[in-house]
Amino acid sequence: MSAHRNNFATNLVAFAVALAMGFMVTTLAAPAGAQTQGRDVEAAQPLGGHVPGEALGASSDAQIWRAVRHGLQGKVSIPNKQAGVMIQSEGDTWRAWRNGPMTVFGVWAGLGMVGFLALFFALRGRIKIDAGPSGNTVERFNGVERFTHWLTAVSFILLALTGLNLQYGRHVLLPILGAEAFADISMAGKYVHNYIAFAFMAGVVLIFVLWVRHNLPNKNDLIWMSKGGGLFVKGVHPPSDKFNAGQKVIFWSVILGGGTQALTGISMLFPFEITMFEGIFAFLNVFGAGLPTTLTPLQDMQYAQLWHTFMAAIMIAIILAHIYIGSLGMEGAFAAMSSGQVDENWAREHHNLWHEKVHGEMSEASAGRRQPAE
Ligand code: HEM
Repeated sequence: MSAHRNNFATNLVAFAVALAMGFMVTTLAAPAGAQTQGRDVEAAQPLGGHVPGEALGASSDAQIWRAVRHGLQGKVSIPNKQAGVMIQSEGDTWRAWRNGPMTVFGVWAGLGMVGFLALFFALRGRIKIDAGPSGNTVERFNGVERFTHWLTAVSFILLALTGLNLQYGRHVLLPILGAEAFADISMAGKYVHNYIAFAFMAGVVLIFVLWVRHNLPNKNDLIWMSKGGGLFVKGVHPPSDKFNAGQKVIFWSVILGGGTQALTGISMLFPFEITMFEGIFAFLNVFGAGLPTTLTPLQDMQYAQLWHTFMAAIMIAIILAHIYIGSLGMEGAFAAMSSGQVDENWAREHHNLWHEKVHGEMSEASAGRRQPAE
């Protein structure tokens, strides 16, 4: 019993010392109703060495603690001024969004797309070359284009897997692998994610440079879309240039989605160096969005993280559809990105305008060999 009492007394003293030390580096004041971190630093009144609540907690300084709870920023002598905030209250909101709606949204987006593709495959099957393979091939993508594609694709897949581990690993892998193996994998995954991001960014820039001129919208896109791209009905092939409207959606998703992933990712890689959401919110407020335009650097990073997670879920869902149609879903498509050569009948059915423009002469010359191979 007396040992128990001694322990209690020791703990109490330790707690009081820790409390006092905390306040030695942080000079606090008590402006009533301080709501947002960092806002009231100037208004803060020094306590002159007085420890709130007194070291033994004999009296209550509710106002001070309420202000601390709501992100009151004190002064610190170390370079990192953010350390003057003991409780960053907006972190609660951020965590609730990250662990709640964002986690659920990602599952719905990913599994929803997998379910849709499975249903599509069950109903439509593999989209065949209607005229059958001709046996002649034409060049679709040169070496530089294919290198760029695979640079972007492989880095995206690594980023997606390691990113999914950050968001879902503790729910999925931790119970299977155990704490130690999961910690090792997650640490390795974090490095992969941070460094491979640069390969992905390079890929996105190169893709933009190589293909932007083929991805500007035109009236054929409307026809293509009105016919569902011919994807749902056998034998329907709406006109298409090098890229059809569906591929243009993929292209712009990679450029715009990948671009914002890069910006928000860099903001998290170099904490507190870049702030971007104040400006974005101010712009959106022109359209009546009513978003906050005074954000601390930490809040800015929280918005960056939420956007990064949200956009990752959307991009993964879109790219799942792309991978499906570029491999299992359509006969003859994968060759475009492996050897770079596609069957002429495939080219004529899926990209007739491009085929005529680029390979018109060759097609004339090889007219006699155009018939499907028996
Ligand atoms: C194993 C995974 C992948 C496969 C099998 C694949 C396959 C293909 C194929 C066959 C094409 C050429 C389509 C055509 O000739 O019209 C293509 C184009 C393209 N791929 Fe991929 N791809 C993969 C992953 C990715 C990833 C991860 C990205 C980007 C994050 C990506 C971005 C693109 C873009 C922007 C194009 C041009 C537009 C389009 O055809 O949709 N690909 N891909």
